[in-house]
Amino acid sequence: MVRRVLAVVAAMALFSAVPAAAQDSLCKRLGGGDAISTVVKSFLTKMRKDDPDKLGRFWLFRGSGGVAREEQLIVDFVQSATGCDRLYDGRDMRSTHKGMGLSSADWDRTVGLLRATLDEYKVPAELQTEVIDLVGTTRSAIVECEESTFGCP
Ligand code: HEM
Repeated sequence: MVRRVLAVVAAMALFSAVPAAAQDSLCKRLGGGDAISTVVKSFLTKMRKDDPDKLGRFWLFRGSGGVAREEQLIVDFVQSATGCDRLYDGRDMRSTHKGMGLSSADWDRTVGLLRATLDEYKVPAELQTEVIDLVGTTRSAIVECEESTFGCP
């Protein structure tokens, strides 16, 4: 009997250690690389179509080739950051966004568009939190001023 109890306790200890280590990647839980690509592209379309005095200002005079390249790099970045088997070979977030004058208002609007996209694709709330937290890790490299205006003064 004692031996059986010990065996059960040992099994419980073993299994309670499993979930964190063996949990599927965020990539897999979001439905894989193709699903991520679809959602990211939809989100970026919203960014580009935003008001020209808000986020849309960045895409007013951009050539289609450059925009397509940027879109692919952002898909690669998100796939790589969520644990898909994907290489991101673009620039780091600080040098990429340096001098764009992104404010906290720009950031909050971006997160709002991201949430709207995740809602649209019915991504469950707990996965949305993980995605927003992950994207949030880039904030300090991207936002250049804590202003409530779009753009930094
Ligand atoms: C806060 C709002 C943001 C705006 C307005 C914005 C805008 C831009 C623009 C205009 C470019 C093109 C730059 C160029 O061609 O030189 C770009 C590139 C990029 N952005 Fe953002 N961005 C934002 C946030 C983010 C976030 C949160 C991420 C990552 C999670 C991100 C990832 C990237 C990547 C990977 C590139 C391509 C890097 C490369 O060209 O090597 N951006 N962004």
